Amino acid sequence: MALWGGRFEGGVDAFTQEFGASLEVDKHMAQQDIRGSIAHATMLAEQGVIGAQDREAIVAGLSQISQEIEAGEFVWDINDEDVHMAIERTLTERIGTAGARLHTGRSRNDQVATDIRLLAKDLCAELLEGNHELRRVLADVAEQNLDVVMPGYTHLQHAQPVLFSHHMLAYFWMFTRDARRLKAAFDASDANPLGAAALAGTTYPLNRDRTTELLGFSRTIPNSLDAVSDRDYLLDLEYACAVSMMHLSRLCEEIVLWSSSEFGFITLSDSYSTGSSIMPQKKNPDFAELTRGKTGRVYGDLMALLTTCKSLPLAYNKDLQECKEGPLDAARTLGDCMAIMAGMLETMKVNANVMLSQAGTGFSAATDVADYLAKHGMPFREAHAVVGHLVLECEKRGCGLEDLTLAELRKASELFGEDIMGSLDPAGIARARTTYGGTGNDAVAAQLAEARVTLRV
Ligand code: ARG
Repeated sequence: MALWGGRFEGGVDAFTQEFGASLEVDKHMAQQDIRGSIAHATMLAEQGVIGAQDREAIVAGLSQISQEIEAGEFVWDINDEDVHMAIERTLTERIGTAGARLHTGRSRNDQVATDIRLLAKDLCAELLEGNHELRRVLADVAEQNLDVVMPGYTHLQHAQPVLFSHHMLAYFWMFTRDARRLKAAFDASDANPLGAAALAGTTYPLNRDRTTELLGFSRTIPNSLDAVSDRDYLLDLEYACAVSMMHLSRLCEEIVLWSSSEFGFITLSDSYSTGSSIMPQKKNPDFAELTRGKTGRVYGDLMALLTTCKSLPLAYNKDLQECKEGPLDAARTLGDCMAIMAGMLETMKVNANVMLSQAGTGFSAATDVADYLAKHGMPFREAHAVVGHLVLECEKRGCGLEDLTLAELRKASELFGEDIMGSLDPAGIARARTTYGGTGNDAVAAQLAEARVTLRV
């Protein structure tokens, strides 16, 4: 008989029982469930609601179950509806009436909310570690390739030369903001619903702040209805995961492009590439593609939870049982993808010469040539038009700006002098962008130092 079976005469059939169960997904929060129960029993004993001996028996029994689960020795019974039932039933079978007292002043509604909040905090903490490691790798790759020049793009067309390190650090800052979002999700989860009971609170003299303290929550939720009803902190977690996957997908897209023979900017290590079953020459960036692809499922997880929670009346509804798989999936997916990305970046070869030679093509010096004229007194708009015409002329001839002679340049404007050649060198162009946050070598070195500071916290 189910633990709630007292008022029932008939039972559900096996399929219906299975349909209503959440045991499989709940197993991921078994340890959190036990932590919650130990805190509850401890507080009950301190408040004189249960005896000290009962508390001791409960704590010992739950600790034993915790170890068995950890070791994979615990026998799960599929007839148990969820993890709360499975653990409480096993405990009571083992220790008798003390076990049957554990659920005093508690409901599965505040119990499950407590478990999920503890789980969400654990997931955020793990993801923050993975995020930190990925950012460390990005900073290292930037440092190792500090002065490597590559084409910078807009619209995927050559725009202006930039440093590869600057490009890597752009991702560093995106993932730094992702860390902030994960931290915000942690903080949102960090509130104690235990003691809300089913929905209304309870007549037992519970000390809710004590379980808050015992479970390491930073605060106690002030409204029992809200405590058992809302899952918005899981949305925060899934949103943080979705944004970070979006950032990863952009980097993946670039890795796919850069490792193609058309670009040739990087060579992925064999350990992060796969071959083709038919084309012997193939070396595919599968792991970048797969990460890019997994972004979709994490977006889906977020959308699923938003939809599940939509229009639910207060307080607990069984719909909420559906809220656990998505965040677990999103967190596992992001955690795996960040680890894969870190490994892929750490082991790839950066083809600095290819990047540099590409940086000189596609008229990416045009802005600097126009700036040259502007700095010699020509209004910038006019200079823009002069250089535009030069580009058109070069295109007709099939050459680059650097192939024009000084005499040809001076025909376009008298302001051109010998020193114009300095404005055509991609490394010089990048170096000259000295403003804070710009791609100049010194500016990027300063930026890297700033990035490193954020890794220390
Ligand atoms: N398995 C349930 C869930 O995950 C636990 C809470 C059940 N509460 C209830 N009143 N049926 O949401």
